[in-house]
Amino acid sequence: MFRAMGNGAAGLVLALLVIVGVQVYGSILVPVGSDQQIAKVEGLSAAGAAPAEEASFAELLSQASADDGKKVAKKCVSCHTFEPGGPAKVGPNLANTVGHDKGSKPGFAYSAAMQEKPGNWTYEDLNTFLTKPAAFVPGTKMTFAGLTKGKDRAAVIAYLASLTENPPPKPKP
Ligand code: HEC
Repeated sequence: MFRAMGNGAAGLVLALLVIVGVQVYGSILVPVGSDQQIAKVEGLSAAGAAPAEEASFAELLSQASADDGKKVAKKCVSCHTFEPGGPAKVGPNLANTVGHDKGSKPGFAYSAAMQEKPGNWTYEDLNTFLTKPAAFVPGTKMTFAGLTKGKDRAAVIAYLASLTENPPPKPKP
C-alpha cells in the first residue's frame, strides 16, 4: 500500500498515524492521572470485587406480591390455568399446588419423570423447578426454559400460594 502511494503519501499517512496515536494514548493517560479519574477507577474495581449479594429466596418470597405474580404468570397461561377448578391445558391446572404432591392432579397425563419425583411441592422446590424445569425434573414434559429472575419466581410462587387452600407457612427470611 505504501509503495503504491509513493513515499510522500506514505510519510503523510505515517505522520497522521503518529499524531492520532499520541492523541489516543494521551487521552487515556492524562485523565487517569487526575485524582477524580483515579477515584472513579478505584470505585469501579471495588464494586467489581464485591458485587452486591442477591437477596435469598426466602427474602424475595416474603416481599413478593401475588398481584405481581399474576403478571409473571402471563408466561404460563398458554399451557396452564390457575383458577381453582380450571381445566388442564398443555400442563395441569395449578391451583392447590403449593404443599401438594408433585405430579398428582387427577386427569392429567404427567411424564413418568414428574410422577416419580418424590415429595410435595415446597416453596424451595418450586423455586428450583421454575429456575430451570428440565434440570430439576430431567425428562419433564414442561418445555419451558425457566424464569431467570429470582424476583419473578418468588412473585409467581406467591401467586400460586394465594390460589392454594391452607398453604404451608412461607420460609422465614
Ligand atoms: C409450554 C407449556 C408450559 C409452560 C409455558 C409452562 N408450563 Fe408448567 N407444566 C407444563 C407441563 C406439560 C407440565 C407437566 C410436566 C410433566 O408431567 O413432566 C407442567 C408442570 C408444572 C408444574 C408441576 C405441577 C404438578 O402438578 O406437579 C408446575 C408447578 C408448573 N408447571 C408451573 C409453571 C409455571 C409457574 C409456569 C410459568 C412461569 C409454567 N409452568 C409454564 C407445561 C408448561
